Amino acid sequence: MELSLELASAGATRQAGLRIGQALPRRGIVLLEGELGAGKTTLVKAICEALEVRPESVISPTYTLVNVYPGPWPVYHVDLFRLEAAEALLELDRDDWVNPEGPTLIEWPEAARPLLDGEALLEVALALVEDAPHRRRATLRGAGEYAAVREALAALNGGGD
Ligand SMILES: Nc1ncnc2c1ncn2[C@@H]1O[C@H](COP(=O)(O)OP(=O)(O)OP(=O)(O)O)[C@@H](O)[C@H]1O
Ligand SMILES: [Mg+2]
Repeated sequence: MELSLELASAGATRQAGLRIGQALPRRGIVLLEGELGAGKTTLVKAICEALEVRPESVISPTYTLVNVYPGPWPVYHVDLFRLEAAEALLELDRDDWVNPEGPTLIEWPEAARPLLDGEALLEVALALVEDAPHRRRATLRGAGEYAAVREALAALNGGGD
């Protein structure tokens, strides 16, 4: 599937994240792309909220590579913005950064891509919109098992297919 969404405000991004979280397969892997301030962490927070993680506990793992949030099942939050983080990834056991029991949400995922070959991924690209500081465009791509995510989002603004 490929789906494009207009997110008119941070609130709209939260609504999208809640729906993604509700429809995400238990071991879903979400790659979140987009420049600084595009809204990746904002979306992660909302996905986590839907997964019954306390949103206050969701912060970008700046000094750690992976944050693990407790909930009905654990949620892994990975941020590979720093080069050292991307390098450290290679040293980790897979279970330490790809969640064996629940979803894995990865910001700045480029370094992880070669290690995720053959995995079913939900790719979310967020982009700023010129002259509209609170608007974002989200493009989502995911194979068959992410069809439920598409359905959950399609009702939001009828954007794209
Ligand atoms: N439509 C929108 N969607 C998401 N965030 C928005 C939107 N409009 C404004 N914002 C604001 O933009 C900022 C996005 O910050 P956020 O930390 O989510 O970005 P990020 O992509 O994770 O950045 P970084 O690469 O630094 O981790 C927040 O302050 C948020 O309130
Ligand atoms: Mg972030």
